[in-house]
Amino acid sequence: MLHAEPQSLHIQAIEPTLKPQKLYIRTFGCQMNEYDSDKVADLLRESRTLDTTSTPDDADIIVLNTCSVREKASEKVFSDLGRLREIKRDRPHVRIAVGGCVASQEGAAILKRAPWVDVVFGPQTIHRVPAMLAEREAGGQAQVDVSFPEIEKFDHLPPPRKEGSAAFVSIMEGCSKYCSFCVVPYTRGEEFSRPLGDILAEVGALAEAGVLEVTLLGQNVNAWRGELDDGSTADFADLLEWVCDTSGLERVRYTTSHPLEFSQRLIDAYRRLPKLVSQVHLPVQSGSDRILAAMKRGYTTLEYKSIIRRLREARPDVSISSDFIVGFPGETEADFEATMKLIQDVGFDGAFSFLYSPRPGTPAANLSDDVSAAVKSARLKALQAATDAHAASVSASMVGTRQRVLVTGNARKDSDELAARTDNNRVVNFAAPAALIGHFTEVMISEAMAHTLRGQWRAPA
Ligand code: SAM
Ligand code: F3S
Repeated sequence: MLHAEPQSLHIQAIEPTLKPQKLYIRTFGCQMNEYDSDKVADLLRESRTLDTTSTPDDADIIVLNTCSVREKASEKVFSDLGRLREIKRDRPHVRIAVGGCVASQEGAAILKRAPWVDVVFGPQTIHRVPAMLAEREAGGQAQVDVSFPEIEKFDHLPPPRKEGSAAFVSIMEGCSKYCSFCVVPYTRGEEFSRPLGDILAEVGALAEAGVLEVTLLGQNVNAWRGELDDGSTADFADLLEWVCDTSGLERVRYTTSHPLEFSQRLIDAYRRLPKLVSQVHLPVQSGSDRILAAMKRGYTTLEYKSIIRRLREARPDVSISSDFIVGFPGETEADFEATMKLIQDVGFDGAFSFLYSPRPGTPAANLSDDVSAAVKSARLKALQAATDAHAASVSASMVGTRQRVLVTGNARKDSDELAARTDNNRVVNFAAPAALIGHFTEVMISEAMAHTLRGQWRAPA
């Protein structure tokens, strides 16, 4: 077991602080962590007067929401904690909380390495952070709770706050797939679906408050199951149908789905539900069946390609992005070539690709590996060049087309311009009135750059 039960350790007493306090949160890793960080901020706001700050230097409460999916992310946390020691030395009233997957794996050991930490919480105990912090302030005890009280987390989350016209809705927690390389099932716990009624109530409240686009979040959203009043079980395709039925909502996304549960029912949803965007992020990890089996992914490349073929039959313009791991133990040149061939065959529109990172406690960490670091890096570079080239050709093919976009705010580089997102999740910058922020509009794509598109907007006649 990698998770610990609630406990507390005694360290030095701390001074009370003046209010309002300033909160600084640094988030590492996935969108689930981003979501959790927002909820921690909301929860803390319920119990005290808070302003947020973008630097730890003037913060009263510092939260690190950590990621342990790769070694580098894990290490960053401990170097950050080293720096926070000085802040705590200079301003002893500052509270430091460490959450997320490193916290889940290390538990009370974080306090041994960094005794200046006040609270250690896991991905399933974010709702307990205000109480843990209060306990620490009252009793002088450092608090550790990285348990998995499943349903409790969803039950105690504050109601959603509307920020802009797009929002994330968590529909499930954890993962039970146990891919041989991955730490997530150990740090976030087994798959657990949020009840159907709660999800629909949250989506409905967001739409009523003016949200136009929701992204349903989970490690494996298509493993979601819900119990209906008549005792039958609803699946993710049913959930999408009901979410798309929400009046006021115009666009529905989800991430991440898993090939294993990408059912024909889910594929057929793309024929029926126009609000479902024409974009799917479907991690494949490798194009070699031998490596896929060693990774315990539960599908072959043929099965993966069959999903893509049927998806494209259902929704011809669907864009597919993916995750790849390069340099899994024992990956041969032939295995890597099979991955490159899959990339050509599928034509991915974007990818996240990573060098394999052995994670303590996972089965793959014990596999022997004779491929040099230099070979792995060269393979990663070649893979990224191939996926980037395809993404660039998709961007180029969009030039001259009209796209329906959701305007998210001002452009990053030029605040006189607006930024918006296309259906296939590309950023388009264009000149138009700021009153369009938060609304859908149409732009003509005029230019494709490396990471963004340029568009031309015309006021409707
Ligand atoms: N649920 C997703 C799926 O269907 O595979 C994956 C979620 S995982 C947190 C995000 C990505 O991190 C994975 O798709 C994988 O590419 C990468 N990843 C996970 N463990 C890794 C490891 N040990 N080394 C390198 N990359 C890793
Ligand atoms: Fe990790 Fe595999 Fe689940 S990559 S999050 S164990 S699907």
